[in-house]
Amino acid sequence: MSETPVPPAENADDKPMIDTRFYGRRKGKALKAGQKALMETLYPRLRLPLAGEAEVPTDLKALFPRPVQEVWLEIGFGGGEHLAHQADTHPDIGLIGAEPFVNGIGKLLKHIDEKGVENIRIYGEDIRPWLKELPDACLDKVFLLFPDPWPKTRHADRRFVNPWNLDVLARVMKDNTLFRVASDDMTYIRHTLSVVPVHPEFDWLVSGPEDWRVRWPDAIESRYEAKAHREGRTPKYLTFRRRPRA
Ligand SMILES: C[S@@+](CC[C@H](N)C(=O)[O-])C[C@H]1O[C@@H](n2cnc3c(N)ncnc32)[C@H](O)[C@@H]1O
Repeated sequence: MSETPVPPAENADDKPMIDTRFYGRRKGKALKAGQKALMETLYPRLRLPLAGEAEVPTDLKALFPRPVQEVWLEIGFGGGEHLAHQADTHPDIGLIGAEPFVNGIGKLLKHIDEKGVENIRIYGEDIRPWLKELPDACLDKVFLLFPDPWPKTRHADRRFVNPWNLDVLARVMKDNTLFRVASDDMTYIRHTLSVVPVHPEFDWLVSGPEDWRVRWPDAIESRYEAKAHREGRTPKYLTFRRRPRA
């Protein structure tokens, strides 16, 4: 696993608070010829400037070539099947997908090319620095599907769901919008349920077991979800709502 040499975030007392390094992979096997070609032709049109490269527009809808009603974000789209499906079935929504793994980007480009969708933009890196640059209340939905679980206690700081990222998400999400989290790792599910519902800006939308046992009806099975099913693990689906601002 590659580690980017980014120093940990610091609080007002100059003490490290949370590990902000990216521990995932950025590269895997050589891309297939078709994906490589799409990286050269399609990706430059869909790729968003990275944090620090350009100012983020005050209205994220301006990132899309056609008018969109809302902007949704998928963090860590993996092979992009869920993102492409959402874009295909919601042509009036602008979807931003974030994924640092270049092979995942290659797979998403293939889906985009096959489906002919035009409402996806790709942030090809760790989303966290960019989230900090986003304007307040600019997102209408956020997906975090099968995040890297980091089940060992000593790696718990690496989990995407943590109070610091939740503070940023709360700032960039509009009132009453949804944050969907799925995982097949019970440590991650327990961790998420110990962190999100106690955050002052989020509620867990739950009325019974169906709410966490059944995948959202407009979603499709992602690559990691399929792997979990093949290996006998049962995914859980959590829906959180960003509370209205006072
Ligand atoms: C276990 S995979 C799941 C992929 C996909 N969501 C699925 O369900 O098949 C987690 C993905 O999140 C990506 N990821 C991890 N941290 C990220 C971050 N800070 N920003 C964007 N993507 C991230 C990883 O590169 C990896 O591809």
